[in-house]
Amino acid sequence: MTYTSSTVRVPDVAAVPRHIAIIMDGNGRWATQRRLPRVAGHTRGVDAVRAAVEACARAGVEYLTLFAFSSENWRRPNEEVSFLMRLFVTALEREVGKLHANGIRLRVVGDLSQFNDRIQDLIRRAETKTARNTRLTLTIAANYGGRWDIMQAAKKLAEQSAQQGHAAEVNEETFSQHLAMAYAPEPDLFIRTGGETRISNFLLWQLAYTEFYFTETFWPDFDAAALSDAIASYARRERRFGRTSAQLEPQSQDADSLPC
Ligand code: IPE
Ligand code: IPE
Ligand code: MG
Repeated sequence: MTYTSSTVRVPDVAAVPRHIAIIMDGNGRWATQRRLPRVAGHTRGVDAVRAAVEACARAGVEYLTLFAFSSENWRRPNEEVSFLMRLFVTALEREVGKLHANGIRLRVVGDLSQFNDRIQDLIRRAETKTARNTRLTLTIAANYGGRWDIMQAAKKLAEQSAQQGHAAEVNEETFSQHLAMAYAPEPDLFIRTGGETRISNFLLWQLAYTEFYFTETFWPDFDAAALSDAIASYARRERRFGRTSAQLEPQSQDADSLPC
């Protein structure tokens, strides 16, 4: 298990984030600005995904998590939702071979039971094919909601309690083991493109101590240079995790230890 809780133990930090999580926003506005239908922005968004994956792999980022479809995006017009589903199928069919060839492990998190059988089957096959790759773990959050994630983890603990006939131990470690992304460390850097400054029900639990970066750039325009600006901004942050600046200085003793 790779997940370690930043509120239980202070994680190691480096200039390059180990885990970047992105809300890819602004596809619709990118298209509207060009007098194109909104869905043209989603199509271009796939190209930006490819660029982000390549740039992260090159920069040495270990985990990249992309919010592709939220649990609230079903509220959009039927035609846009259907288009996004078709785009998801096409991307899975066309891109998985390339991901595999580049040593990338693909995971998809969210309530996948709401997707049709074809999509569920493509996801399972892609995950199995790429399971042993170690260069970068690319997670696509699809029909994902931070509240859904916390609820499903709570349900699993409740089911475990019922099965064993006594209450399962509930603490941050046991709880987070049941989160959809228990295989990854918490995100170091959160990026939202498209100008909005909200979380929109993304990784609510995991973003507790993540550094936030907001940019006006629409997702289809977010390229390797834009990613490198975000990483540079991250490198300038002081991540204190509750401690003081003085405690972070190299000569400081016991900066990582928490009172028992
Ligand atoms: C993000 O872009 C993609 C999805 C939510 C699927 P939007 O479609 O939200 O684009 P804007 O925010 O309307 O411009
Ligand atoms: C968040 O974007 C979800 C994804 C990028 C998949 P939205 O465009 O759906 O968010 P809101 O509605 O503006 O908060
Ligand atoms: Mg949006």
